This record gives sequence, structure tokens and C-alpha cells, in this order.
Amino acid sequence: MADRRILVTGGAGFIGSNLVHYLLGKAEQEHGITVSKVVNLDKLTYAGNRSSLASLADDPRHVLVEGDIQNSELVAFLLRKYNLNAIMHLAAESHVDRSIDSPEEFIMTNFVGTFKLLDAARVYHKERQAAGQSDFRFLHVSTDEVFGSLGPSDPAFSETTPYAPNSPYSASKAGSDHLARSYVHTFHLPVVTTNCSNNYGPFQFPEKLMPLMIQKVIRGEKLPVYGDGSNVRDWLYVEDHCRGLTLAMLKGEIGETYNIGGKCEMKNIEVVHALINAVNAERPDLNRDPAELITFVKDRPGHDRRYAIDCTKIGRELGWQPQETFDSGMRKTVRWYLDHANWIEEIERKYQLQRLGQA
Ligand code: NAD
Ligand code: DAU
Repeated sequence: MADRRILVTGGAGFIGSNLVHYLLGKAEQEHGITVSKVVNLDKLTYAGNRSSLASLADDPRHVLVEGDIQNSELVAFLLRKYNLNAIMHLAAESHVDRSIDSPEEFIMTNFVGTFKLLDAARVYHKERQAAGQSDFRFLHVSTDEVFGSLGPSDPAFSETTPYAPNSPYSASKAGSDHLARSYVHTFHLPVVTTNCSNNYGPFQFPEKLMPLMIQKVIRGEKLPVYGDGSNVRDWLYVEDHCRGLTLAMLKGEIGETYNIGGKCEMKNIEVVHALINAVNAERPDLNRDPAELITFVKDRPGHDRRYAIDCTKIGRELGWQPQETFDSGMRKTVRWYLDHANWIEEIERKYQLQRLGQA
């Protein structure tokens, strides 16, 4: 059984924390591996939360290190100290709206940070190769937003769709994808890249569409739908993404990219209606009226109209398929947020303190 000792970057964020739980939980059985160490390097920005990892507090396989991926010395130290044989790179500034308000941090973390990490991995991989070890892998986790915006009848994004990023976020991710590609071709670093659509599920910071809307429905607040609500996104339950990331890391062809998606295109307004219905079904006492809550607000500048993912390749080559439907995943998600009000309240409190400069 292969033993994986993995550096996960951004493992206190939404997908990262779900990935850490997956790696130390179901992954061993589902992929026939052992995961003897997960070193979780996270800067703990507003989006990173220790509380998302609380259930691992007594698990000796997990180490959370507060630090920046731009700190090459720290990365080199961790790789060597724990004799790691994989990096799963998720650390990023990830919110499109924030990249419009203040783009610089996106360039620093997503582009410069990815460069620093790739370069530290290059040096480390060379050392291991010289010692006869050839099992190192670098998984670069990216987004479908690098491909730009589709018209209503355009075919879905495939791995060969030309890049056309439209926001500072997607441009910084596109740049990082190109760096990852260049490190394979120039330095033979064993990198695999994935490009995924919109994730939803537990532990998502409540400024993204799903958790934001769920919270507001529970509290009876107005639901701010951008523009006319007909922008289309493809939705994937986060654990399905984590399974795909693990497969790509273990079995992906070096230098290849794999699209991951939920085969589930929906207009934003449809998602919002589905969430209201799901909250009403779980909490009939609330009985929220969509007409009272939904408000159409000023659109996001440069708002991409439609994303759609063709994920045939990862299905054909690695045997990946989403296991959750939108309905089953969304109901689980709504139930999770209803059951974890304390998780939301704690991060809201921490966020307010950060804004006031007291944390
Ligand atoms: P997130 O914002 O919830 O989490 C990002 C994590 O990275 C946070 O814990 C944060 O503290 C950490 N971080 C930020 N800057 C850092 C730095 N300089 N050094 C170390 N840690 C740092 O993001 P997410 O939604 O979990 O996304 C994770 C990755 O997946 C990102 O690369 C994103 O581009 C990609 N992705 C996200 C989605 C989605 O729907 N959320 C879809 C496709 C791809
Ligand atoms: O497609 C993958 C991307 O999905 C990831 O790369 C990003 O990291 C992730 O944040 C997500 O980006 P989006 O911009 O699609 O996600 P967000 O949740 O911000 O918005 C989803 C859609 O909902 C989008 O069309 C904008 C709209 N929206 C969002 C918010 C926060 C609203 O209508 N109202 C809102 O209040």
C-alpha cells in the first residue's frame, strides 16, 4: 500500500479543510493508500479557520502550520522535516468580488506564491531524485474561471479551451496554471493540474453564494442576487471535488490537466429558489417567502455569464464521477449549516475583530 505524506496548502479554507478530512478519513479505503502525514500550511487569512479542523486536534497525522506559501524557507523546511512525497496546492485568495476591490493580494498569493511553491518543490524533488526517490507529485488546484465566459449555446469548457480570464482572480489563477505547466516542461517537475467549477458544502466562508444565501434565509434577511440572476454556474459537492483531487494526485498523468465538474448547470436564481425550498423543508416553522426575500442588486463588474465544464477526460482516464446530485448535496449542505450555527457565529466574530484590528 502506497504511503502518502502530503503538504496541503490552504488546508484551513473551504475546500482545503474538506480535503484534509477526506485524506485522513475516506481516502485510505477509497484509494487503497495510507496517508501517514498531512502537513497543513495555511496563512489563516479571513478565509482560513482552525475551527474547521477542530475534530482533528488529537490526530497525530495532522499538523497545522500557520505560514505563507511565499515563505520558501519554511516550505523547504517542512518538506524535508516530514519527508513529504506530495504537495496538494489549494492556498489562494479565492473570492472574485474581493479581487475586484483589491487585486494585489491575489497576484501575490495566487501568482507569486504559486511560483515560490513550485520553485521550492523543484529543488526538493531534485534532491529526492538524487537519493533514488521518484514518487513525488505536485497537484496544482485551479478553477474553470480561467477559461472565461460562455454564450448560451457554446460547448462546455474542455482541457483544450483557450484561456480567457476576465477578473483579477481568474487572471492570477491562469498565470499560476501557466507557471505550473512551465515547471513540467522546463524542469520535469511532476505536476498535475485540475480546473474545477463552483464547489459547495460544509465549512465554506459565508460570503460565497450558497452559505451566504442559506444564512440569510435562516435569518429572514434580503437575498442579494446580482444583475438579473440568470448567470449560469456549474455546481459540485465539495467531497466529490476532494475525491477527484486525490485521484488526480495519485493517478493523473504528469503534465496533464483535468477538468472537474458537477454536470449541473444552473442559473443563480434557480440555486437561490432551491435553497429557500430546502431551508423551508428542514425548518417548516420559518416558512420563508421567496418573493419577500429575493432582491436584485447591482451586477458584479465584468460578471462572467456562463460556466460549464466538460469533465469527460477525468471520467474516462481516472474513473471519476460525481456521487452527489445537486439535490442530495444541497440538502446535506443546508442541514450542515443549520446544525453548525456556532461555526458561522465564531467566524463572523473573528472576522469583525480582524476588521477592527483586534485579532
Ligand atoms: P478559501 O478562500 O476558502 O481558502 C483559501 C485558504 O488559503 C484559506 O485557508 C487561506 O487562509 C489560505 N491562504 C490564503 N493565502 C495564503 C498564503 N499566502 N499562504 C498560505 N495560505 C494562504 O478557498 P477555497 O474556496 O477553499 O479554494 C481553494 C482552492 O481551490 C483555490 O486555489 C481556488 O482557486 C480553487 N477552487 C475553488 C473553487 C470554489 O468553488 N471554491 C472552485 C475551483 C477551484
Ligand atoms: O467557478 C469556480 C469559482 O467559483 C472558484 O474559482 C472561486 O474561487 C469561487 O469563489 C467561485 O466563484 P464565483 O464568483 O462563481 O462564486 P460566488 O459564490 O462568489 O458567486 C456565485 C454566483 O453567484 C456568481 O454568478 C455571482 C453570484 N452572486 C454571488 C454573491 C456572493 C450573487 O448573485 N449574489 C451574491 O451575493
